[in-house]
Amino acid sequence: MPTFDVEAIRARFPALALTHNGQPMAFFDGPGGTQVPDSVIEAVSRYYRESNANHGGAFATSARSDAIVEAAHAALGDLLGVDADEIVLGANMTTLTFHLSRSIGAALRPGDEIVVTGLDHQANVDPWLALAADRDLVIRTWEPHLEDCTLHLADLEALLGSRTRLVAVGWASNAVGTINPIADIARPVHDAGAWLYVDAVHAAPHLALDARAIDADFVACSVYKFFGPHLGAVYGRRELLERLPAYKVRPADHRFETGTGNFEGAAGALAAVDYLASFGVPYGGAAAASSRRERLVAAMAAIRAYELELYGHLEARLLGVPGVRIHGLVGGGTMDRRTPTTAITVEGMSPRAVAIHLGERGIAVWDGDFYATGLIERLGLAPEGVVRIGLTHYNTRAEVDRLVDELEALAPRAAGSAAPSLAEAR
Ligand SMILES: Cc1ncc(COP(=O)(O)O)c(C=O)c1O
Repeated sequence: MPTFDVEAIRARFPALALTHNGQPMAFFDGPGGTQVPDSVIEAVSRYYRESNANHGGAFATSARSDAIVEAAHAALGDLLGVDADEIVLGANMTTLTFHLSRSIGAALRPGDEIVVTGLDHQANVDPWLALAADRDLVIRTWEPHLEDCTLHLADLEALLGSRTRLVAVGWASNAVGTINPIADIARPVHDAGAWLYVDAVHAAPHLALDARAIDADFVACSVYKFFGPHLGAVYGRRELLERLPAYKVRPADHRFETGTGNFEGAAGALAAVDYLASFGVPYGGAAAASSRRERLVAAMAAIRAYELELYGHLEARLLGVPGVRIHGLVGGGTMDRRTPTTAITVEGMSPRAVAIHLGERGIAVWDGDFYATGLIERLGLAPEGVVRIGLTHYNTRAEVDRLVDELEALAPRAAGSAAPSLAEAR
């Protein structure tokens, strides 16, 4: 298989040519939202030029718009390994989860139980807490092991019981990169007669996703985390989407897509999935005549191999920087259980000050809790949080070296002062 041609891939992303203070921008902010390739930008602007209309009209632009939206459902179905009619599009994962939780709640009775985790983004926790408050449900919390930020199956099994109706868990942590053994989680959840609601937002740009293989009932993702526009999508098992009550207006066709959709976003989502699939043949070894789903699976394997090699380099270098601490899984043996996203702290320096220092040098990292608030609190790192470094397939070894060189230059300064001001950090 040919090696991953990262320079050719980077040429497809106009934003990767940006500079700041005379330095090329290096984007390690992917877990907060990735850059988009030219094909996505073009698909969104082409929508406005050629297909801009509301749904269901008897004229050409409306027909074109509807065809694009239908094709976007099929593309996202391919991404998640499910059918187009099982995809619900909406504003973002959070809004869709609040929306669907209302329908799911209609099937629950006071005293029924929902399991949430202490590792997840709050978008897969707070909708269930709100539902529990509204309907007198009981929340049970699956606590992560803080030494490596992992969830253990035995702890889940102790929480499941005859009243468990739903388990809400992430496929991967957006804060520390832990990948949860989601297929192994699904088995005891279904044995207990409960539904599984999976947050795949952080997993989607890094892993081949297969909602049926893991036997999830719902899988949520956000297109802007995998090289597309700001749009959310949720897979719902067909029987459930048909059975659950829908909060909708009477004339609407779609049971869960309320109001006028983000059609230009759907055009971009279609292009984003096609962008990922485009790696399947050249880098993933998929046959030229293979389906988009097959090309996606092959593409994600190639992306994963590239990202993990790069992450191995990042982690090895970070471990050599005095004062830098990695939170979560560390070490070669843990690579298959993590995404290329890591959370660090720099001794004696606030995460914000580190992020500002790097930002001024054209290096984009996030600081804070990234709404994985429960985890950051449990780690005793609230409210400042951590510095998150997220790699994607468009990052390079040279960018990683530049980032770690900056951290190395910072470390002695940070160690010398317990609480440096922002000015000092500069
Ligand atoms: C793991 C995870 N879940 C959920 C969300 C929320 O997604 P959205 O912004 O689409 O509501 C995010 C966003 O950062 C995330 O990283």
